[in-house]
Amino acid sequence: MKNILITGGAGFIGSHVARLFVRKYPDYRIVNLDKLTYAGNLANLADIEAEPNYVFERGDICDFEALRSLFARYDIDTVVHLAAESHVDRSIVDPFTFARTNVMGTLALLQAARLHWEASAGGYGGKRFYHISTDEVYGALPLTRPDGEPPYGEEFFTERTPYAPHSPYSASKASSDHFVRAYHDTYGLPAVISNCSNNYGPYQFPEKLIPLFINNIRNRRPLPVYGRGENVRDWLYVEDHARAIDCILHSGRTGETYNIGGFNEWKNIDLIRVLIRTVDRLTGQPEGHSLGLVTYVTDRAGHDLRYAIDSSKLKEELDWEPSLQFEEGIERTVRWYLDNQAWMDNVTSGAYEKYYEEMYRGR
Ligand code: NAD
Ligand code: TYD
Repeated sequence: MKNILITGGAGFIGSHVARLFVRKYPDYRIVNLDKLTYAGNLANLADIEAEPNYVFERGDICDFEALRSLFARYDIDTVVHLAAESHVDRSIVDPFTFARTNVMGTLALLQAARLHWEASAGGYGGKRFYHISTDEVYGALPLTRPDGEPPYGEEFFTERTPYAPHSPYSASKASSDHFVRAYHDTYGLPAVISNCSNNYGPYQFPEKLIPLFINNIRNRRPLPVYGRGENVRDWLYVEDHARAIDCILHSGRTGETYNIGGFNEWKNIDLIRVLIRTVDRLTGQPEGHSLGLVTYVTDRAGHDLRYAIDSSKLKEELDWEPSLQFEEGIERTVRWYLDNQAWMDNVTSGAYEKYYEEMYRGR
């Protein structure tokens, strides 16, 4: 591997992956291709932007001609594909944008990789297309043990669980996964896929539960809990996901799928109480101070009940497991958002979007 294209590197997970790779692999050239949508933010990468092995390219993964010239310009041999529209609630409002980027964008990237690699001296030798996906493609699991200790059911998503997506987001990601497998099976494209559970940590856009609620608690705003707060998610610290991606990219078997998860199920309402306790403690408020902000609202349409990942294949084959305890991960995460209020103000004001529009005008 020499020239790695990371797509979506200015987003939440992508910025952690880009940082890890730039620091860990000084001999690789890391090309970050990102459209800088509302979710992309170059401030997430400020600490690596001057590194000699890092290049940023603003662009759209749906722009096939631009992809063709990017592959040629940097002689890309490896793709780590994270660029996507990623928020379920937005996908309910605007499904077309999700189909465009997640399905057509992935297809354009696959085709650009295929054409470039098939024409290259070594063909597919030494090449790899790594597609980052989600556990939401598997649909939802039953909540058979709602009371008591997690796990909240006997079933887990494995790599053999049939696809059954419910939201436009997960349907678009499922479709992109199928296209990646189709390119592997039809053209021999050396592809690998991973499906990960819910991530949390620094630099996550505050539309997702954890950063949204931390910010709302801090600003004394209501905390909109969908339905009864009984839905279950499996949470993984974003740096553990980035480590898993590194591991699978370098050691995963071509044509395989790996599930990544934390064996860390939480009912939303229990997780929200942990967030409240942590923010209150770190901001010097008495215990229970912000509990009154909890506001039960109309449930999300098609709200998946429970996600739980079985990541034992990854443990057995590649010896990966989460390194961070959830309590420590949450503590770190809350501290980061409280210490980086300027980052939060920027991404919520929309000022940074205008700034990047200006910066890239005419390019
Ligand atoms: P994000 O929304 O924070 O970032 C997405 C990035 O993609 C942004 O920088 C955005 O500007 C860029 N982008 C969007 N459309 C683009 C386009 N057309 N061309 C180029 N760039 C574009 O998302 P995230 O949470 O970091 O998720 C990254 C990937 O990981 C996604 O593929 C997502 O499906 C997957 N994933 C996310 C989670 C999670 O919990 N966040 C869990 C499992 C898998
Ligand atoms: P989210 O962070 O949007 O991730 P996903 O839908 O991909 O799992 O939501 C996590 C859980 O929190 C999910 O069950 C929906 C719920 N939720 C709320 O109750 N209120 C909110 O305002 C948000 C954004 C999410």
